[in-house]
Amino acid sequence: MGRVLTAHGPAADALITHQEFPGRVITTNASGEYQLPATPKSGWMVALEKHYLTHARPGTVRPDPVPPDHPETPWIDPTPGTSPRACGSCHQQAYLQWRGSPHHLSSQSVLFSALFSPGGQTAWHLGENYPEATASCVSCHAPGGSALETDLPGEGPLSGVHCDFCHKISGLGSGAPGLTHGRDLFNLARPAADGRPVVIGPLPDSTRQNVAYSRLFKQSRFCAPCHEGTVLGTKVYTTFSEWTAWNGPQNCQDCHMPNDGPRRHHHAMGPGLSAPPGGLHVTWSLQPSPAGPKVRLAIGSQQVGHALPTGHIDRHIVGWLEFLDPDGKPILAPLGPGFIPSWATGLPNPAPGFLLARWRQNGPEGPVPFWSPGGEYKDSRLLPGQTREMEWQLPPGVASVRLRVEHRKAWPAMLRAHQLSLTPTVLFDETKPLFSGASGR
Ligand code: HEC
Ligand code: HEC
Ligand code: HEC
Ligand code: HEC
Ligand code: HEC
Repeated sequence: MGRVLTAHGPAADALITHQEFPGRVITTNASGEYQLPATPKSGWMVALEKHYLTHARPGTVRPDPVPPDHPETPWIDPTPGTSPRACGSCHQQAYLQWRGSPHHLSSQSVLFSALFSPGGQTAWHLGENYPEATASCVSCHAPGGSALETDLPGEGPLSGVHCDFCHKISGLGSGAPGLTHGRDLFNLARPAADGRPVVIGPLPDSTRQNVAYSRLFKQSRFCAPCHEGTVLGTKVYTTFSEWTAWNGPQNCQDCHMPNDGPRRHHHAMGPGLSAPPGGLHVTWSLQPSPAGPKVRLAIGSQQVGHALPTGHIDRHIVGWLEFLDPDGKPILAPLGPGFIPSWATGLPNPAPGFLLARWRQNGPEGPVPFWSPGGEYKDSRLLPGQTREMEWQLPPGVASVRLRVEHRKAWPAMLRAHQLSLTPTVLFDETKPLFSGASGR
């Protein structure tokens, strides 16, 4: 029999686990006591929130608490070979995935720099219009910077959301996700420069020295301080509250950090191999009807644990139809319901289609920057599991119809203001011929 004690008394709910028997979890009782199985004799670890992992043994075990935060201690550079503690020297796979991830480049993306930097005259230049707001950007995009910093901490591997930042998170502070941003809502545990090192993570059974356990790493609340944010009065990031409203069985990590081998989870957080399997589901057909042939289109959100799309408020998915004559030239359709304006597509004329987006509108011109005063908040995105059906009557002379769907990171007006061009992600692009008798296919 063993007993787990802290400075505050017996530790109930400590976990006793063994790497080679992942299913077996023993929990301490209210007196901090536990009974180990007869075999195996060694390898059992005691995991207690906010404490270093400790080997279980007969008698009393007193796990050390993780240190209080020492902000003056420099962050550990993950680049392999730079120091004996460089994460990338040992965790090569996680390092390579993280290096290619949006977290690594979170203070260096073209769009972020365009908004953050001073200079520029248009309404879409945030850094010029609200220089004081940039401190809030830094708290999520460059959380390793100092609390007073409004400049970005350069371009190195510590400039974004890096390994040592996430793995020094020991808990959440008392603020509310959305209102307190990024690093200001996290409790951190950087040891003194000459103190006992620590990394905090999700494994209760690791036998490595100087590692600590926190169940927060398996919870969506871990992501919330950065993936929920009201900035300058507008709900710019709402992924965590969308996930809460969904009330589904999976956490952010279940979908975005899938298993990647034994005791490993994917750290790429984005497109490519690690991307979760779900997303926008499109089905469409050309069908006869008494009034002539028509297009039927259904779009649905499948296996997404929040609205589609989510993320930064400017992100959107836009889909539109082109009606083509026998030579492949576009035929303008008479305007009707289900037409989306040029400010969304960037095309010269309104087009039949759909727009999944969140934006603030002030007049007929389309979205205004999220920080500009006034305007009405709109949200046309798909909720988890939702399907939407639409149909359009074809004008005479149509020989084929093309459907194109793009995921875009910024509005045409923003890109024009910053003289940027971004390649959108094409989610769907298909052309269907219209057969005689208008049966379609
Ligand atoms: C000298 C090699 C080495 C270095 C350097 C190193 N680690 Fe580890 N780390 C390990 C090993 C080995 C384990 C044990 C893995 C296991 O138990 O499956 C581990 C475990 C971990 C865990 C799991 C802890 C838990 O209880 O969940 C985390 C998180 C972690 N390391 C992060 C980091 C970070 C971040 C850095 C850089 C600041 C780093 N490591 C540097 C070798 C290293
Ligand atoms: C310290 C703040 C912070 C934490 C904690 C954090 N993120 Fe992020 N995350 C960001 C920032 C900032 C970006 C934007 C990077 C960019 O696009 O430039 C981002 C981007 C992402 C993306 C990429 C979206 C895309 O553009 O494809 C995903 C997915 C993601 N995070 C998931 C998560 C998950 C899941 C967690 C929790 C396990 C998490 N993040 C924790 C700040 C954070
Ligand atoms: C049920 C699985 C699932 C869960 C749970 C889930 N996501 Fe996602 N997430 C997805 C899928 C699928 C996509 C890609 C959808 C698409 O095509 O844009 C996505 C996209 C994203 C994006 C990228 C948006 C973009 O524009 O590319 C971010 C950021 C994100 N998720 C963060 C989170 C966070 C934070 C949580 C937890 C609060 C979470 N997700 C929970 C499945 C999930
Ligand atoms: C955005 C925060 C974040 C960043 C940045 C991050 N991690 Fe993690 N890491 C996590 C979370 C969350 C988990 C738990 C995943 C799970 O168990 O579902 C984790 C798990 C781990 C583990 C335990 C084993 C495993 O894969 O589950 C190790 C080791 C680790 N990370 C190392 C690293 C290294 C090395 C880096 C940098 C190259 C890094 N992490 C960057 C959040 C982060
Ligand atoms: C609450 C945390 C938080 C704050 C505060 C914050 N961001 Fe973000 N930002 C994120 C996250 C998380 C993402 C990734 C979401 C996504 O994938 O769309 C992101 C994405 C972005 C993107 C899209 C990046 C890309 O390359 O696609 C831009 C641009 C951006 N943020 C600008 C800003 C600016 C400018 C500020 C300050 C006014 C700011 N953000 C403040 C968390 C934050």
